[in-house]
This record gives sequence, C-alpha cells and structure tokens, in this order.
Amino acid sequence: MAKPEASAKADKQAADFARGLEGVVAAESRICRVDGETPRLSYSGYDILDLVEHATFEEVIYLLWFDELPNRTQLQEFIAKLAAERHLPTGLVYTMRTLPHTTPPMDALRSCVSLLSVYDPEDSHDCSVEANWRRCIRLMSKLPSVVATFDRLRHGHEPVEPNPQLGLAANFLYQLTGQIPNDLSAQAMDVGLTLHADHELNASTFAARVTVGTLSDLYSGITSAVGCLKGPLHGGANQEVIKMLHEVGMLERVESYILEKLARKEKIMGFGHRVYKQCDPRAPILRTWSRRMGEAAGDLLWFQMSKRIEEVVLREKGLFPNVDFYSASVYHTLNIPHDQYTPIFACSRVAGWLAHIMEQLSDNRLIRPVAQWVGHEYRDFKPIDQR
Ligand code: ACO
Repeated sequence: MAKPEASAKADKQAADFARGLEGVVAAESRICRVDGETPRLSYSGYDILDLVEHATFEEVIYLLWFDELPNRTQLQEFIAKLAAERHLPTGLVYTMRTLPHTTPPMDALRSCVSLLSVYDPEDSHDCSVEANWRRCIRLMSKLPSVVATFDRLRHGHEPVEPNPQLGLAANFLYQLTGQIPNDLSAQAMDVGLTLHADHELNASTFAARVTVGTLSDLYSGITSAVGCLKGPLHGGANQEVIKMLHEVGMLERVESYILEKLARKEKIMGFGHRVYKQCDPRAPILRTWSRRMGEAAGDLLWFQMSKRIEEVVLREKGLFPNVDFYSASVYHTLNIPHDQYTPIFACSRVAGWLAHIMEQLSDNRLIRPVAQWVGHEYRDFKPIDQR
C-alpha cells in the first residue's frame, strides 16, 4: 500500500537530514571554489597560489565582486573609491570612545558595524543594486578603520587618520600603530587578507546570505556574519592558537602539551576542517610567511613551535592545520594584539561576505530549511491545575 504523501515527505526529510548541513548544496555560486579533495582553493577560477603571488588584496576584492581581474584603470579607480571611504563618522567615533576599554574587540566590531547603518548617507529604502555596491565600498573600507580605531582608543591613544596613499593592508597597520609599515610587513598583511577573503559557504558567509535572503539590509547581513565569525570553531580559532602557543612557551614542551590535551579529548585549535580532509591549501602559504616574518624579526620560536605542533598533531590524529593556525604566528610577529586576530579576519572576509550578499540578492530566494521532528506526538492540552 502506498504511504500517505505527508509520511513519504517526512521519510525523505529524515533520509536527507545532514547534521551541521554537511555536504548539503545550499546555493549556486561563482565566487569561490573549494575543492576539498585535491585540495585546491580558487576565487573566480584563479588559484589562490597565483593570487597571493601576483595580486594585491584590492585586486582580489575586485575579482570577488565583479568576477574578473581589473585592468590598470579599473584598479586605480577602485582603489581611489575604497580609499575615499576609510573615514569613520564622527558620531560613531564618539560612541566608540564611550565603550568600556575591556570590550572584546569582536563585540566592539559587531556593534560598530550595526551602528554604521545609521550613518549611511543614502536613503535606507534605496535598495537598488547601485546603492548597494556603494554600501559595499563603505563597509569594505570602514571595517579596518573601526578595528584600528577601537584598538587605539582602548589603549588610551587617539585614532590615526587614514592615509589615502597607502594600500588597504598597509593603511590598516598604519592606523593601528601610527607607523607606516615596512614593505615586508605590509606584504604579510596583504597576503593574510587575501587568503582569508572568501571560502565558499562557510558559517559566517551562510549567515550573511540567510540574513539578506529575507531582504534585510547589507549592514544587517554583515552584522550577522561578524557575530558568526566570532565563535572559536570558526574565526575565533586564530586567537585560541596564539593562546596555545603562549601556554606551550618553549619548543621542548610541545610534545607533552599536545599529548596531554589530546588525552583530555580537547580540540587543538587551528586543526581540522569540515571540507579539507587533506591540508588546507592556505596553511602552507602562511607557514612560509610565518618563517619569513620570524627570520625578519630574529625570533623563530613561534614558527618553530607551530611547526612542531603541526608534526605532533598529524602524527597523533592525522589532522592538518587550517588557515587559522599559521596566521596566528604571522600576526604575532606583526605585533598585532592577540584579540585583534579575529577582527582582522573579519576585515578580510567582509570582501567575500559582500560578494555573496550581492550574489544572493541577484537571484534571491528566502533561505528556510526544515527540521526533522523528534519531539512529542500531538497531545491534549492540560489545564495548569492538572499538570
Ligand atoms: N583537534 C582534535 N580533534 C579534532 C579536531 C581538532 N582540531 N578537529 C576535529 N577533530 C576530531 C573530532 O574530535 C572528531 O573526532 P571523533 O569522531 O572521534 O569525535 C573528528 O575529528 C571530527 O570532528 P568534527 O568536529 O565532527 O568535524 P567538523 O567537520 O564538524 O569540524 C572543525 C570541523 C569545526 C573545523 C573542527 O575540525 C574543529 O573544531 N577544529 C578546531 C577549531 C578550528 O580550528 N576552527 C577553524 C576552522 S577554519 C575556519 O573557520 C576559518
């Protein structure tokens, strides 16, 4: 006898249920291709290895947004537009001054992104594609300024005005420290930003797409994404990595530290990945930069401890490092405060979030999955004195 239609639908849902949505295809996208098997990562068809070697972060943003690399004129215009939007609204800086100095930087960033919406100079009802692209430029340029400005304020320093002559990576370091970075530091920052710029339907990007899929605004989409990135299973892992390196403290302690952690069934932050079962292709690039920056700083301990941890975790668990692992030691040698690593991740990933938001809006359908019911059968309501 054929099953009733509702029951057949419920059976299919049960069969399709994928915990954590693993393996579920939830969108069509042209932005970023993650090949977990090879493993290979590309943006708009360009391998990440080539982009890191030959392109700047600004070229990568353009590629993610417009599906083509810019020519020289397009790039110059794009850089000028980005540089012109780095200033923060006075009202926002005023509010930032009132935040407790103990505010975690990711909380400050999430709140400031949300507040940026009230200072957007355009009519919030104008949701045209053109207006939204202008908002993309604003969000892309202002996030690094927010991160740098909050860091200065919480340390009792005045904000540094952006320098339009500097590229995005160098300007960020300048606004953070007040010093124009040397070429190697600026390049390391640029590489870090490029490698974190997008990664297909990761949790925060999905959150951004879900949010704007309701036809909510771009600021709401990015606020959702920042909140999502904060978690230690996602963007928060890089801060946990540097905490771990500090706890280890010396090369000789790596082995026992990792073995003890694994014996307690604790996760080693910066290892493992939902999609890559081999090495995350971004990790070896950052490993090279970790060594390079360590050599330049005359302090290879952070690189050496990281390398040794990688060997032990691979031997013990067969797990490879992900993008968060070596970015920690690179940012450490750039003298970036540890709790700013995840906000910096956001300053890069906002490029991808915005690309995905615009892609979602170009062919929108509300994202609304269903849950498999595992609760009570229907039952009769009990008045309160009978419970
Ligand atoms: N350390 C120790 N064991 C691990 C780790 C790790 N870092 N990662 C996975 N495992 C083990 C799990 O304990 C589990 O073992 P079990 O089957 O014996 O219980 C198995 O590998 C599968 O792990 P899951 O957590 O189920 O894998 P999932 O695909 O859900 O998680 C994730 C992927 C969240 C990245 C996971 O590997 C993890 O928690 N890593 C540490 C946090 C981290 O580095 N996050 C950054 C990810 S990259 C990014 O977001 C930018």
